[in-house]
Amino acid sequence: MDPDDIPFVVAEHLRYFPDSFFARLGPKFLTAYNGTYLTGPDARAYIAEMGGQPVGFLIGATDPAAHRRHVLRDYGRGLLFRALGGLCLRPRLALHFLRTRLVRYGRKLIPNRAARQTPAVGHSGVTAVLDYVVVAEHARCRGIGARLIARFVKDATDVGCARVTLVTAAEGGAGPYYDRLGWRRQGEIRTPEGRRLLTYDLPLNDGPTPERH
Ligand SMILES: CC(C)(COP(=O)(O)OP(=O)(O)OC[C@H]1O[C@@H](n2cnc3c(N)ncnc32)[C@H](O)[C@@H]1OP(=O)(O)O)[C@@H](O)C(=O)NCCC(=O)NCCS
Repeated sequence: MDPDDIPFVVAEHLRYFPDSFFARLGPKFLTAYNGTYLTGPDARAYIAEMGGQPVGFLIGATDPAAHRRHVLRDYGRGLLFRALGGLCLRPRLALHFLRTRLVRYGRKLIPNRAARQTPAVGHSGVTAVLDYVVVAEHARCRGIGARLIARFVKDATDVGCARVTLVTAAEGGAGPYYDRLGWRRQGEIRTPEGRRLLTYDLPLNDGPTPERH
């Protein structure tokens, strides 16, 4: 994925995940947020094209905690301003944020001294997170989604991750799709808004994938 693809990614994100908190902060925030996946060494962002046009994307992190640190260090201020801009334009969402996410995000985002002092030990044992995958409707059922996912799984395997996880909506989500791809359903969580999400994981036991020639 490169910066020219971001408008497509934002439009598809808003189309398929309009209720996600980040989507509700508006397209400017989403543009900045998706841009962080282009530069983070522990993030992956792929675009699928047909006839030179983008038709699908996947974003994820092979080390979510390291990616969060990268985002805070290099984009923290810009994202904060965009988030505040989004919240100012949407006062009800701002109240909702204060009630449901301020403490949780604060805990995750305030740099943790222990984590800063821990030397990097690679991805061994780390759980990668597949954040979003979308294929535009006119390009579906051609194996593009499966290939995007397989590429992320390969990258996570190659850097030594122990597993990949994701969440998908319990109602109208892609659970049956991941069942078919061999992912394991782990359980169910609820967002602060009460939406039910299924959690899935895929263990990566086979070690780095051999290069194909
Ligand atoms: C899920 C998604 C990425 C699959 O993309 P795709 O390129 O069409 O998938 P593939 O070509 O690899 O697989 C197609 C097969 O999976 C099935 N499938 C696709 N989405 C499915 C879903 N949500 N539930 C059940 N089956 C699904 C198709 O019916 C098709 O079955 P067939 O081979 O028997 O005809 C795409 O449907 C999508 O973007 N959905 C909206 C966003 C979303 O839910 N993303 C996942 C949550 S992060």
